[in-house]
Amino acid sequence: MRTVTLIPGDGIGPEITDYVVRILKAAGAQIDWDIQNAGSDVIETEGTALPQRVIDSIKKNKAALKAPVTTPIGKGFRSVNVQLRKSLDLFANLRPCKNLEGIETPFHNVDLIIVRENTEDLYAGIEKQIDEDSAQSIKIITKKASLRIAEFAFQYAVKNNRKTVHAVTKANICKLTDGLFLNCAREISKKYPQIEYKEILVDNLCMQLVQNPEKFDVLLLPNLYGDIVSDLCAGLIGGLGVAQGANIGYDTAVFEPVHGSAPDIKGLNKANPTALLLSAIDLLIYINQKETADKIRNALLKTLKERKKLTSDLGGNASGEEFTNEIISNLNYSC
Ligand code: NAI
Repeated sequence: MRTVTLIPGDGIGPEITDYVVRILKAAGAQIDWDIQNAGSDVIETEGTALPQRVIDSIKKNKAALKAPVTTPIGKGFRSVNVQLRKSLDLFANLRPCKNLEGIETPFHNVDLIIVRENTEDLYAGIEKQIDEDSAQSIKIITKKASLRIAEFAFQYAVKNNRKTVHAVTKANICKLTDGLFLNCAREISKKYPQIEYKEILVDNLCMQLVQNPEKFDVLLLPNLYGDIVSDLCAGLIGGLGVAQGANIGYDTAVFEPVHGSAPDIKGLNKANPTALLLSAIDLLIYINQKETADKIRNALLKTLKERKKLTSDLGGNASGEEFTNEIISNLNYSC
């Protein structure tokens, strides 16, 4: 039995967490969940959206599954997600993006991976009100963080038989910050001659992704572009309901979907748990429970392919609960 931190989050977080925990239990995952609440719901009782106990739990367990947490827009407390990644030094945000059979989209043969720097850039949260009519935000890019994320991207490419790494920046405009990121990517690329290294500006990348996404393999990006391009890529494969992710550090990882807390569908039983489930499958592999991971993946793929019980974001009319029950009933299926 392995202890893993579980953050149910808010919005649709608790409902999709409940579905995913049920699926993992039915599949026989050997996990003892250490449940840690965070977000706006705990501010009143604990005075902070990210209590130290959450960080301590992850530090101790070295692995977590996290559902989305709401961040107030334009005001309020700092993002729990950003604080968590920063305080645990989860420097790499991995977001695989691959077509799933059964999910119809105009795009085919999408199989790319986003490697997003996770600790700096405009997400450093250094903002200042200059006067009533102007404000300033500081974009931080360091050589240390840029070199290590580039190294991570190339190592990932080698380990996973990927062919190409594209460094994505806006270095024509942000000459010093994105220019530094690009120089670091160039420096690291020289150590990996077996991987083709290319560079592309982020605006051009967005256009090309919606025309020929199959041309891209590993995308290496600073924090902000990585976040935005992730949602674009989720759209290529069927939407945020199926886009998984992981925040990786040297000895700790937090697995979480790309999507947010989706307040527009909270409590309507429409939330699709696939993105969190795919993140949980990667967590199972991370904690050496690959057999259970494969069993769940097969059940999920069968459910998607048959299209009998899909949630509305995937063109079906099943509730999240019915979709979950269908996956559970498919658990003994083997590909
Ligand atoms: P969102 O990702 O929550 O929702 C965007 C759209 O996708 C909505 O129409 C929503 O209904 C749909 N959607 C998202 N997940 C879905 C799912 N599992 N099943 C079906 N439909 C789904 O983005 P939004 O509305 O911009 O952000 C809401 C809140 O979430 C904000 O406070 C934001 O800061 C936070 N957020 C948190 C993240 C995290 O915890 N890692 C990541 C992204 C946003």
